[in-house]
Amino acid sequence: MQFKLIVNGHTHSVDAPADMPLLWVLRDLLGMHGTKYGCGIGQCGACTVHLNGVAERSCITTVEMAAKAKITTIEGLSVDGTHPVQIAWQEVDVPQCGYCQSGQIMAAAALLAKKPHPTDQDIDTAMDGNLCRCGTYLRIRQAIHKAAVPNHAPAGKPAAKASTTSKGGTR
Ligand code: FES
Ligand code: FES
Repeated sequence: MQFKLIVNGHTHSVDAPADMPLLWVLRDLLGMHGTKYGCGIGQCGACTVHLNGVAERSCITTVEMAAKAKITTIEGLSVDGTHPVQIAWQEVDVPQCGYCQSGQIMAAAALLAKKPHPTDQDIDTAMDGNLCRCGTYLRIRQAIHKAAVPNHAPAGKPAAKASTTSKGGTR
């Protein structure tokens, strides 16, 4: 079947079975490899993308379901890697092997869009389904707190002081 998908603001026409997972469409038909395959059954979060701004598992979202939504992948979160979450991720040096991280970043960005100043509990609840075999959880929490404060000021403006509320480790 033919589907029109709006991905990162661009419209793509794809020919795929209606039940093909969005993850396959992104990776295999559209060549967007930033979204990762982990478990394929909605249990790990590696494949997280946004559908209308909400974090969803693309491995269990069919192309037919996705065709009705505005899709954002890690490639489209910002044009140049300057989304506050991406900047905070770099500053905290969150990734280890990196495999889970695009899913983590997309989940974190969706959380902050909904809740700009999340508590540790909010973060743990929202990020609970995003697994990291390298155990970067404490740095993820720290980076989300960092992204939640306006410390990434536009050029020419002084940056605000970084949050002191983070309890996350930095190993
Ligand atoms: S690959 Fe989708 S949740 Fe694991
Ligand atoms: S950084 Fe390796 S799985 Fe998360």
